[in-house]
Amino acid sequence: MTETRTILEAIEVTRTFDVSRPWLQRTLAGEGRRVLRAVDAVSFAVTLGRTLSLVGESGCGKSTVGRLAVGLYAPSGGEIRFEGQNLSAARAQPALRRRTNMIFQDPYASLNPRWRVSDIVAEPIRAFRLLKGRDVQDRVGQLLTQVGLSPRDGEKYPHEFSGGQRQRVSIARALSSEPEFLVCDEPTSALDVSVQAQILNLMRDLQERMQITYLFISHNLAVVRHMSNLLGVMYLGRIVEYGPGESIFGNPRHPYTRLLLDAIPDIGMAGGTNSRARAPIGGEVPSPISPPSGCTFHPRCPLANARCRAEVPRHTLDGDVLAACHAVEEGRGA
Ligand SMILES: Nc1ncnc2c1ncn2[C@@H]1O[C@H](COP(=O)(O)OP(=O)(O)O)[C@@H](O)[C@H]1O
Ligand code: SF4
Ligand SMILES: [Mg+2]
Repeated sequence: MTETRTILEAIEVTRTFDVSRPWLQRTLAGEGRRVLRAVDAVSFAVTLGRTLSLVGESGCGKSTVGRLAVGLYAPSGGEIRFEGQNLSAARAQPALRRRTNMIFQDPYASLNPRWRVSDIVAEPIRAFRLLKGRDVQDRVGQLLTQVGLSPRDGEKYPHEFSGGQRQRVSIARALSSEPEFLVCDEPTSALDVSVQAQILNLMRDLQERMQITYLFISHNLAVVRHMSNLLGVMYLGRIVEYGPGESIFGNPRHPYTRLLLDAIPDIGMAGGTNSRARAPIGGEVPSPISPPSGCTFHPRCPLANARCRAEVPRHTLDGDVLAACHAVEEGRGA
């Protein structure tokens, strides 16, 4: 159980999107092509059976990293390796597609409303020809039981379930091809708080029983706290703080991580008063089409100075945590 094999690795991964207007409009307006950098030189490594969580406000590039990690997008630069193999080259192999999968935020949108749940869950088993005939139905029954539903629920259609139950169905479906690596993109964000906890517990349970590796994505640090071994905090396409979850929660280095933590009422931070603890995060995430100069967080950062506005901060190691911040590097953090 002490195995520390890296299953997924991102090495300086960048992903850009061309968001130019159509050629004629561009020409008339005399404007050039516009490129949006959704993910900017992101590196991380996920160990077998553990969880790496990515957290950050909406628009920070989390879902794009998730899609890169299962090969739904190809990197514009850098490399993703699954068990040491370049994912772009390997993705075409059915064996590899079976081993990775993704769960999305909205279980309703990701389940075909016209199919019975048993067919929805059985589809990957049939597509990858893992089992045949009666064995497929038996396996579907098992999967539904594993996620806390009953085998007889297979007869129903998605609309007959509550939001939490539908997310259980999509987890059963995601597990049906017996993947080793799952990207969970805001899997509980559409659910009520009490149901969220049940689904998170289920996911942790399944991880323990099946040694599944998770890349867990959420905009909510409170959710991530209960899921992660490793944590990456993303801001405008970059990972600005990266390390063991307990180290970061115990002693957040980056001012952005501090702001995220301050916005959570339940997590009392050292030095944070009650009113400060409930303060909303000031400002908004700027557009990645024309990001601020230097440290892209500088317009919102209480510690910003001239160097921050001019120079992109590099990652430096502080204990077991990497942070990209001049103030942290200079030791002038709050
Ligand atoms: N297919 C796409 N085409 C153009 N822009 C995209 C595309 N996907 C994401 N983006 C942009 O990339 C940035 C990051 O998006 P996303 O990865 O969805 O962030 P998050 O999941 O953190 O909210 C956003 O500015 C978003 O508008
Ligand atoms: S580099 Fe400067 S602006 Fe950026 S987070 Fe650190 S202190 Fe704030
Ligand atoms: Mg997203």
